[in-house]
Amino acid sequence: MDHGSAHPAGHHAIPRAEPMLEVERRAGSLDLPILADLNPDPHVVEVNLRAMTAEVAYLPGKPVTAWTYEGRIPGPMLKANVGDRVIVHFTNQLPEATTIHWHGIRVPNAMDGVTAVMSPVPPGGTFTYDFVVPDAGAFWFHPHVRSDVQVERGLYAPFVVTDPAEPALSSTQDVVLLDDVSIDSVSGQPRGGHDARTEMMGREGNFILVNGGPANLVVPTDVGQARRWRIVNVANARFFRLAFHNGRMVQVGGDGGLLETPRELSEILVVPGERVDLIVWPTPSAAEASLRSLPYERAVGAGATTPLELIHLPGAPTAPATAPALPDALRPPLPPPPATGITRRVRLGERMSHGGFAFTINDQISPNVTVLDATRGTSEIWDVVNEADMDHPLHVHGFFFRPPGGAERKDTINIPARKTVRLVLEIDSRAGAAGHWMYHCHILEHAERGMMGEMRVR
Ligand code: C2O
Ligand code: CU
Repeated sequence: MDHGSAHPAGHHAIPRAEPMLEVERRAGSLDLPILADLNPDPHVVEVNLRAMTAEVAYLPGKPVTAWTYEGRIPGPMLKANVGDRVIVHFTNQLPEATTIHWHGIRVPNAMDGVTAVMSPVPPGGTFTYDFVVPDAGAFWFHPHVRSDVQVERGLYAPFVVTDPAEPALSSTQDVVLLDDVSIDSVSGQPRGGHDARTEMMGREGNFILVNGGPANLVVPTDVGQARRWRIVNVANARFFRLAFHNGRMVQVGGDGGLLETPRELSEILVVPGERVDLIVWPTPSAAEASLRSLPYERAVGAGATTPLELIHLPGAPTAPATAPALPDALRPPLPPPPATGITRRVRLGERMSHGGFAFTINDQISPNVTVLDATRGTSEIWDVVNEADMDHPLHVHGFFFRPPGGAERKDTINIPARKTVRLVLEIDSRAGAAGHWMYHCHILEHAERGMMGEMRVR
């Protein structure tokens, strides 16, 4: 990263990150349970879902009371086919009001789970979410009330929408949710409280979770075979700069489903809220390959994160793994976005307010950010200008945007410190597109401390 023109953090010097806890390698699986579909109609997925407290253990024998969907972290996976109607009978058994936001799914506005469109479901209350899923891809769901606290306590789960017409890219497929928690190394209990670093950077933990269990996981199956990993960064603030050591990785998809063509990569940055769909395989003769998160400095003066071992895959030194046969085209090219409407500048910044850090959009602090008026059936150019010395991952609800290059659809993208990124937002005119849609930094502490705005679509 080029920091040549960036300002030093100066009097906002950022305290160093706390060291990570050492975690033993352990054998395990990436399997996640799936929510039971109670509806016999093949085009309707109807489930019951509870938010509830439950005991989980981050360290063996050290139970912790977490907030969960259905008693586990992550919550069970929601699975549907593209075009299905999804009905979720939600019950809130938590001691606090909550909602569910379907991150990345183009739901009708009334189903988006934000307080601009629904009252939070009170303790003991119920709500039925009911919508059609228009796009295939790997999505996720989480609360949109006090999200910095509620997601951190364990409320998140994957939502995979499959298109039966898409090519089968691998015989094995896993959804991998990456998270971190801050826990006491002796008691195993989460540590509350915000320190000075958290105030600025959002809360990063000292303990990495892969599908709810400790990282440094060895997946001892399918020796030497290629696997498809649909990876979701559900952490409040941690950036994962992923590399596949002793192996190769090809990106086949992202937030908005499959890419047009496979892309071989040596590394990829995955910011909070973002997804990547990867095919990975050990290189011939490697005894083991591993998914790692490389050091990354996401704020000037913050220091780089330490390298992390996430998942190990056994190789096949005697029967070398071969590259999987991937089609040249994964899907037809995207149609051009609809006729351009207007160009906006969305400036991300920060300042001191009431003795603490506040994060701003066009110099305003949520909920006092001026509402953007937008029109269905247009596309808008957003020049997102990051005026801060730290990266901010921007997420837009309800609509996809095209990042520079334009060949994919995304809903979450990193806006690097002191850089401007041009996005083309596609305000489609599907039923339910009109209404109130949020856009915000997906560092959840930043969103809750001001960096969230609303777009009103008519
Ligand atoms: Cu994943 Cu508004 O959030
Ligand atoms: Cu941010």
